[in-house]
Amino acid sequence: MTKIFSCANMIYLDQAATSHPKAEGVGEAMFFYINNVCANVNRSTYAPATDAAIHVLETRELLCELFGLEDPTHVIFTPGQTVSLNMVIKGFLKPGDHVLVSPLEHNGVMRPLTQLLEHGVSFDRIPLCGDDELDYSAAERLIRPNTKFMILTHASNISGVVFPLDKASEFSRAHNIALAIDAAQTAGHHPIDLKKTPVDALCIPSHKGLRGPGGIGALLLSPSFASKLDPLITGGTGSDSHTEIQPTYMPDRFESGTPNLAGIYGLYAALVQLKNGKVASRRARETVLLQQFISGLDQIDGIRQLGTRDLSRRVGVISIDCTAKMDNAEVADALSSKYSVLTRCGLHCAPNAHKTYGTFPQGTVRFSFNSSNTADEIDFALDALRKILK
Ligand SMILES: Cc1ncc(COP(=O)(O)O)c(C=O)c1O
Repeated sequence: MTKIFSCANMIYLDQAATSHPKAEGVGEAMFFYINNVCANVNRSTYAPATDAAIHVLETRELLCELFGLEDPTHVIFTPGQTVSLNMVIKGFLKPGDHVLVSPLEHNGVMRPLTQLLEHGVSFDRIPLCGDDELDYSAAERLIRPNTKFMILTHASNISGVVFPLDKASEFSRAHNIALAIDAAQTAGHHPIDLKKTPVDALCIPSHKGLRGPGGIGALLLSPSFASKLDPLITGGTGSDSHTEIQPTYMPDRFESGTPNLAGIYGLYAALVQLKNGKVASRRARETVLLQQFISGLDQIDGIRQLGTRDLSRRVGVISIDCTAKMDNAEVADALSSKYSVLTRCGLHCAPNAHKTYGTFPQGTVRFSFNSSNTADEIDFALDALRKILK
């Protein structure tokens, strides 16, 4: 008989990997699509297909409302964050282009960029300065005549440090460089308003802070960037069927093939929960939990904490290095096997972030939470750590 493992009876502090539990109504919405609707979009005109089309459009509109984008046709559904990042990087860059990145990027950014090195694209990493800030003076010095693009993680998946969007947006506009933001760790955790801080490409996953399903993500594009971006994937769109040439209009230009409609129904349900300023209230709650956890860690010997202590520039991701006392993998294993506290250890797909923080190659134990976690869970995790490291 198959044994059923469930995160439900455990203390889930791995929200940076994927959220648990999903938002209310997500599972039901997906079930509803699969069992009742089950029709494609843009291809047929019968009632269930119309229901699917309305859901797709309304999901675009909810994303516009949440992130301050004007035009729903510039919301592109993708199979997830990694695909969004590849679409932006490989669709925009040409041989000879130069790119600026932060030193804390995830491999979702660094591997496509490294792949393009062979095709004549180059990049430089902007160093950090002061208290975990991006050094924009150094960035000025790194700019070359062929610098075309800046790609930044909005928040590090290692230290939780946030790179404020206003500074990134100002810098990119001042230097006429396109700006893409990897909002994997901030979408749904930290307010983002593209009206106030324009970004050319905002990449967001559904399954992390938005608490939607996996296998679906979105790319929110500025009109000028969209017009310069080549589609990475082309094919059937259900539109312009008289021609074998990819449509140039939005969103069809970037949305070929049948989308993950169950995923879009699930994401729709997750986004409904975020209406009316919910992200700000979730963030406030996460900051309280973060403060509680950091203060507790301060009382335990043998732990090195990564990242700024300025909580206005943090999301609920905390990495600790315990190697002064114990191997990090053993700590994470003891947390899950003895105390049912679920964390993640290792390098978290961001090797250069660990080199920057001096935690390469040993990595860290990463705790990550969202506003569905409780103060009791934080206390329990701290107590477990105290016992493991005593
Ligand atoms: C900062 C960052 N970027 C990109 C990704 C890739 O996301 P996904 O695996 O959902 O495609 C992650 C995943 O953890 C991440 O934390």
